[in-house]
Amino acid sequence: MVTNALEAFSLHDKVALITGASSGIGAQQARALGSAGARLVLVARSEDSLKALQAELADKDIKASYIAADLLDEQQWDSVVEQAQSCYGQIDILCNTAGVNLRQAAEQVTSESWDITQILNVKVPFMLAQKLVPAMQARGWGRIINVASLQSARALTNGIAYGASKGAVAQLTRAMAEAWSASGVGCNAIAPGFFHTGLTQAVFDSPEIVEKLAKQTAIGRNGDLQDLDGITVFLASRAADYITGQVIYVDGGFTAK
Ligand SMILES: NC(=O)c1ccc[n+]([C@@H]2O[C@H](COP(=O)([O-])OP(=O)(O)OC[C@H]3O[C@@H](n4cnc5c(N)ncnc54)[C@H](OP(=O)(O)O)[C@@H]3O)[C@@H](O)[C@H]2O)c1
Repeated sequence: MVTNALEAFSLHDKVALITGASSGIGAQQARALGSAGARLVLVARSEDSLKALQAELADKDIKASYIAADLLDEQQWDSVVEQAQSCYGQIDILCNTAGVNLRQAAEQVTSESWDITQILNVKVPFMLAQKLVPAMQARGWGRIINVASLQSARALTNGIAYGASKGAVAQLTRAMAEAWSASGVGCNAIAPGFFHTGLTQAVFDSPEIVEKLAKQTAIGRNGDLQDLDGITVFLASRAADYITGQVIYVDGGFTAK
């Protein structure tokens, strides 16, 4: 039983696997979880970016290994999981952050683009979790953090495939919680508002849209990546032991208005 409230946020004995760690939100989650003491396994396709992040983290005495893999390739899933588990002997926290938004109008969506979106955003999070959960259950504790979206709850322009996938992520989060929480594996999702990353570059290229989106929040600005640090560490830690199946919006009040 933890008696000091702040001790409950420590991740010193934990190992986190973060997909989509080569950039944007995943890279920031790595910085946040590492600063709270976790050892990290970083996964994405871009080896150069993963290596650069590993070096940046090492400068802060944060231990990180990386695995360069294309998660759209089903053949790589088992090897990613096996390699990840062998890096530090266990995975306690899975951050399902790799994602894609192809920004197509309904008329432009093809069977292939639909599948890419649903597979990376929904199927990969489930399949990786399904493979990692048994070892978490054997240790009696584990965490899954999915990444939902404003589009889990709102329909935005050119977001039909992405919105369907993020609506699914919200329900996947509740279903994972139902399936695994009683065995010690909690599952929640972070739903970010608008944050400037590769995925939202097209939005941030337009100062008018950026300003309009900022005005739609209650706080009056779009997100800074550091705004996600607190919720990431919290959901990964024992401080969130009684929270599961929740989608937590970190959106400056966008969905409150
Ligand atoms: N930015 C926002 O405002 C916002 C808002 C709501 C939700 N989100 C969600 O946040 C998550 C992260 O997005 P982001 O904004 O940080 O964008 P990002 O910088 O483009 O990051 C996407 C990440 O996914 C990885 N990825 C893409 N395809 C992959 C594949 N086939 N295999 C393995 N990894 C792959 C990318 O790495 P490689 O290219 O190196 O493979 C990258 O690390 C996504 O799920 C996104 O839907 C973002």
